[in-house]
Amino acid sequence: MEMLAVNSLSKIYGGKVTYRALTDIDFSIRKGEFVGIMGPSGSGKTTLLNMISTIDTPTSGAVLLNGTNPHHLKKDKLALFRRRELGFVFQDFNLLDTLTIGENIVLPLTLDNEKVAVMEEKLQSVAEKLGIQDILEKRTFEVSGGQRQRTAIARAIIHSPSLLLADEPTGNLDSKSSRNVMETLEAINKRDNTTMMMVTHDALAASYCHRVIFIKDGQLHNEMYRGESRQVFFQKIIDSLSFLGGNTYDLSTIRV
Ligand SMILES: Nc1ncnc2c1ncn2[C@@H]1O[C@H](COP(=O)(O)OP(=O)(O)OP(=O)(O)O)[C@@H](O)[C@H]1O
Ligand SMILES: [Mg+2]
Repeated sequence: MEMLAVNSLSKIYGGKVTYRALTDIDFSIRKGEFVGIMGPSGSGKTTLLNMISTIDTPTSGAVLLNGTNPHHLKKDKLALFRRRELGFVFQDFNLLDTLTIGENIVLPLTLDNEKVAVMEEKLQSVAEKLGIQDILEKRTFEVSGGQRQRTAIARAIIHSPSLLLADEPTGNLDSKSSRNVMETLEAINKRDNTTMMMVTHDALAASYCHRVIFIKDGQLHNEMYRGESRQVFFQKIIDSLSFLGGNTYDLSTIRV
């Protein structure tokens, strides 16, 4: 079943100088699929993610999530849609330093006026999934980068969103934490059949996806499916990236 459809999506940024960041992007993601988006710096990856997450509006084309075009929703309905249907994970974690790890995780439920007992139950369940039960009382600055990102993932999935969106979730992590976070995302995808879309520069992170879509100069370039072996997929991704060009890939650090 198709859960996300992106139809002829284009984005032209306005301002003094207009800039065409995306041109006629077409693809879809099935329920339970884990899709990576890669491409050189400035190719339009974050722009694409922002159109899907409704942080920004497309110039033309449509985004359909389970058949609903969120860009056509009125303000209140859109806020609800975002809160219920989407989960976000960012490169810089976006946690609130004034709250504990546990309080950060239940924040989306607090905003939705969920009952305390329900919140507590969901918190325990999600913390267990992510292996962060022991740090729930701690503050954000008392835990490691990897733990912070797992906290952000817990917060992003506690309301069981239809679609989990991640922009460079391993961008600020060392290779061991990156691998750990990707294994966590993979496990959540498998266990809960959560649909995921992740933008990344990191070939190792991308090798955990079922499929990687490459974009270049705001257009779809090609896509690759993982198949059986993650190691083989990793190598294919590296080859594809060097073919695509761009200057931000760290091809020297091969760490399968
Ligand atoms: N608000 C904006 N106004 C004007 N141009 C923008 C805006 N945001 C992004 N752009 C331009 O659109 C293009 C695509 O940007 P985008 O952030 O989507 O790239 P990206 O693929 O995420 O790059 P990176 O890998 O460096 O994060 C870039 O050339 C960028 O300069
Ligand atoms: Mg970006």
